[in-house]
Amino acid sequence: MNIYGKILMQNKIVTAGIKIEDGRIEKISKQIDGKRIKGLIMPAGIDVHVHLRDFEESHKETIKNGTISALNGGICLVVDQPNTRPFIDSEDRYLERVRYARKFISVDYSLNIGLTRKNLDEINEIVSGLKNRGFNPAIGEIFLQHDNPEYQIPAERLKDTEHLSTIHAELPEFVESNRIPNFRFRMREAEIKAVEMLSGKHFYFCHISTKDSIEIISKSNCYAETTPHHLLLDESHYAVLREKVNVNPPLRTPEDRDFIMNNFFMVDVVASDHAPHTLMEKEAGASGYPGVETLYPLLMGQVFYGKLNIFDVAEKIAENPARIFGFRGYGRIEEGNYANLATFDFSHVEKIRAERLHFMHEWTPFEGFPGIFPHTVILRGEIVKEGENITEFSGRVFSNL
Ligand code: DOR
Ligand code: ZN
Ligand code: ZN
Repeated sequence: MNIYGKILMQNKIVTAGIKIEDGRIEKISKQIDGKRIKGLIMPAGIDVHVHLRDFEESHKETIKNGTISALNGGICLVVDQPNTRPFIDSEDRYLERVRYARKFISVDYSLNIGLTRKNLDEINEIVSGLKNRGFNPAIGEIFLQHDNPEYQIPAERLKDTEHLSTIHAELPEFVESNRIPNFRFRMREAEIKAVEMLSGKHFYFCHISTKDSIEIISKSNCYAETTPHHLLLDESHYAVLREKVNVNPPLRTPEDRDFIMNNFFMVDVVASDHAPHTLMEKEAGASGYPGVETLYPLLMGQVFYGKLNIFDVAEKIAENPARIFGFRGYGRIEEGNYANLATFDFSHVEKIRAERLHFMHEWTPFEGFPGIFPHTVILRGEIVKEGENITEFSGRVFSNL
């Protein structure tokens, strides 16, 4: 298959054709003609932070449902987090999850291995074992702060290893759990002090929410991830979200949000932290927002309104995730890479509506926010979305072999 149109390459937009062969980009050239694409051809996104639940929590979300949401939102690869029930904290559990996921994924898939107080001493062996089998696990720390002290890891015991470790940086002493709105009880200091303590090492900090943490990380050898909710929502949205406001880390002040938005270049990755719950659980104060489907559309909406730069968005949603996590063949529109593409038509800005999303529970904290959904999504050379039509896709578990 060939397609032709405006293509976002690294730091430039060119009008050319893309020749796709065996799922990969064989050639990009002005001489190639093909199916005309309206709008801009972008690299499909990588969401490196999703909680696809399933197993004993399939009432919240399933792998099947979550990856169809991802596909509709222009995401080609998701990284699932290990705090499932049961936890993914050993090689056996990891293999069980991956085998199970394989049957249901509609986009490509990777899984982080959970680090807890219990497996802290064996984690390097577990990761090496999995890498030898072709898997690509980053270490997901769960958590400095966890309601179950058996899992809580004292921050000073966290070591950086040659493997990438992703940290949920909140210190328990600044956190009072199970309160609404949690931004009054899970303090900014919980994050800032944890980041301060750990930023001398080489870590990847998940869902950074404060100005101070971003500044510290930007002067360190660490990576900063943020989320659409920390870019677009703040404490004032409590007025709208009411008892569903909780998310960890919490929404922060308008100053924090503005700082992250205005200094987007300091961020390495934007990921959704897709963390679905039932509406009843949300109303009872459960923390987490669904978001894998709205991640790319929301950022493109911000591009439309001139708040974010399109090259920055491509870098933080595709290129950097691929580079930092080692997803070879992903992240850029480049000869030899997988043909994972999402096309965006800037004349189709719409209001996000929960009822049009594919999440298991019809709710989004971004109701009414502007978004641009991809018109066409191509995964490894197959058209899987065109307009309103979605085709199920056989996603693959990422392998480095
Ligand atoms: O709000 C959150 N929910 N933050 C997390 O870090 C975990 C997540 C979840 O698993 O529900
Ligand atoms: Zn987290
Ligand atoms: Zn998370």
